[in-house]
Amino acid sequence: MSTKKIAVLPGDGIGPEVTAEARRVLEWFIARRKLDLRLDEYAYGADAYRRLGQVLPKATEEALHAAHAILFGAMGGMDGDAIPRAARVAGGLPHVRRSLELFANLRPIVTIPALYESSSLKNRLLQGVDFVIVRELIGGIYFGQPRGIEILPNGERRGFNTQTYTTSEIRRIARFAFELARTRRRQVCSVDKANVMEAGVLWREEVQALRDAEFPDIELRHLYVDNCAMQLVRAPAQFDVVVTDNIFGDILSDCAAMAAGSLGMLPSASLGPVDQAGRRAALYEPVHGSAPDIAGRGIADPLGAILSVAMMLRLSLGRPDDAALLERAVAAALEGGARTADICEPGRAAVSCSEMGAAVLRELDRLS
Ligand code: IPM
Ligand code: MG
Repeated sequence: MSTKKIAVLPGDGIGPEVTAEARRVLEWFIARRKLDLRLDEYAYGADAYRRLGQVLPKATEEALHAAHAILFGAMGGMDGDAIPRAARVAGGLPHVRRSLELFANLRPIVTIPALYESSSLKNRLLQGVDFVIVRELIGGIYFGQPRGIEILPNGERRGFNTQTYTTSEIRRIARFAFELARTRRRQVCSVDKANVMEAGVLWREEVQALRDAEFPDIELRHLYVDNCAMQLVRAPAQFDVVVTDNIFGDILSDCAAMAAGSLGMLPSASLGPVDQAGRRAALYEPVHGSAPDIAGRGIADPLGAILSVAMMLRLSLGRPDDAALLERAVAAALEGGARTADICEPGRAAVSCSEMGAAVLRELDRLS
């Protein structure tokens, strides 16, 4: 067994704070569970731009391609105006995802009973919530051409983007969702806007055709995205696997996060295609983003980043038992009363980002 390289990119905003805690957790597994990993940190984001003149420096980009897996903090929000738009786009997260061909983004939403009170939804709606949003990550309106801002003959400006999906792009993500559903409750809900958009008509037809041809054992239904947004807050327990496009997945996952108590709780994995050697590029990041309003104050919730490590253990490191151990440790830390500000009920004292990390490490020691 050779040492696997993990590229760590703390990035912008609260990225460095939460990644430091995720890293401590990963180091616990290296030390205590004989995980043979090397963690190397690389410059990325506003800080990299300030120091090296590039949001995504060449050495970082090369490390991303060479890594067995990537632990990513956050990008954006900081110094937005100080970095020219072209430099931000060239090194931005959408570019990183695309250059690694990370087409499948998994965002699991699981409710933890200790956090029912932190959710904006009623307790009775939260029981049994356990679903995954499978978001297509490198197509659609995020990348479609033409795009731009132009000046019209009458002097007005016009901004435009293009929603586009091909058969193979749709089938690739749908196949991923169906295969995932086979390891779960075998229910897939596909989300589109087929009542208005041609790209949505094609999406629906292709997802259904693939299901009929190759996945007859999977129960498939289709929802329009507006209805899905409503269903996510009306009855979130109805979902198993939700598959959708890039922008709908972006929006619906923030919405769904409230079932888990806070956006700060959501982990994610972004995966590429499996190559001939059976390997796939993989990037693990909390869903919350850079949160510039609270950056540098040590109050961010590291659990989204820490639960992303659990996803890495399961999906890239072949350690399902360690992943489950980490998830149990997170639940136990919450049951023990540790709460960062975002999940703290009124009248309870909040812990800091690093205290939350320490609480998880204590539970790992206790449970292992
Ligand atoms: C996300 C984020 C990103 C996205 C931003 C930071 C580009 O909101 O991962 O959900 O829109 O994909
Ligand atoms: Mg988002």
